[in-house]
Amino acid sequence: MSTVYLNGAFMAMEQARISPMDRGFLFADGVYEVIPAFNGVLFRFEEHLRRLERSLSALYLINPHDRAGWRRRCEELIQRNGGGNLSLYLQITRGAADKRDHAFPDPPVSPTVFMSTAPLTVPTEDSPDRITGAAAITLDDIRWARCDIKSISLLPNILLRQQAIASGAREAILIHDGFVTEGAASNVFIVKDGEIATPPASHAILGGITRDLVIELCREQDLPLREREISEAELGDADEVWISSSTRDVVPVVSLDGRPVGDGRPGETWKILARHYIAFKRRLCGV
Ligand code: PDD
Repeated sequence: MSTVYLNGAFMAMEQARISPMDRGFLFADGVYEVIPAFNGVLFRFEEHLRRLERSLSALYLINPHDRAGWRRRCEELIQRNGGGNLSLYLQITRGAADKRDHAFPDPPVSPTVFMSTAPLTVPTEDSPDRITGAAAITLDDIRWARCDIKSISLLPNILLRQQAIASGAREAILIHDGFVTEGAASNVFIVKDGEIATPPASHAILGGITRDLVIELCREQDLPLREREISEAELGDADEVWISSSTRDVVPVVSLDGRPVGDGRPGETWKILARHYIAFKRRLCGV
């Protein structure tokens, strides 16, 4: 039975209760993070906390804990769930008021803080040579204008992901006005003639922690990478396409809209990046 954290207490998942008046339930009025832990060690934790701080302030929510307080709670939750490879889900909502009202409760109510963990299997645990890659489809990006906020309001994302799953693919790659934004729950990279490209950070995408690490590793390893707009035509014509997220690391997309990407197998540039990614994880977490 897994242990969760709710408003200051650790408890069995079955015992966790929240009010139906919670604004997360009524309005999706809250933010979240998904933080991976490898070998029981939280990965890029400070970076996730920094993004959480930005999301909270975009919603005018006061951060209920300082960084040391978050670290203590998150590490304890990982330990109570046995360590190893886990993804930690963390959600903060504006809390439960007596009456449903779009306007913020005045005076403010206590935020609801919930955390849980789930087992995590990421592809780059093994040798990159054993990885077969994933299929993706392109879909219109139907989301709002502040995708940089990690909001729990994910209805478009789940509809888009479900459409991808229903078509036999793993991810939807989203197109806004003819340009790639990101995946339904991932960031996107392409490789063309040896150059790696990813859409620039903006309000149109969630600045992924994994995306930032890929950029960092490419710069360290002198792999040519540019943050720039990618047209839908360039995506269709790419030698390689990758998607990245905290729960999947970096996955090669080998089929797009039913057509092979490159020769339909994980590309050579991805293999180089994946080896550096694995080495980085080993250094940090001893995986
Ligand atoms: N989602 N873009 C979107 C829309 C996402 O939902 C995610 C991750 C990413 C990648 O961000 P990161 O590398 O920081 O995980 C990009 C998480 C995993 C989720 O919703 O479960």
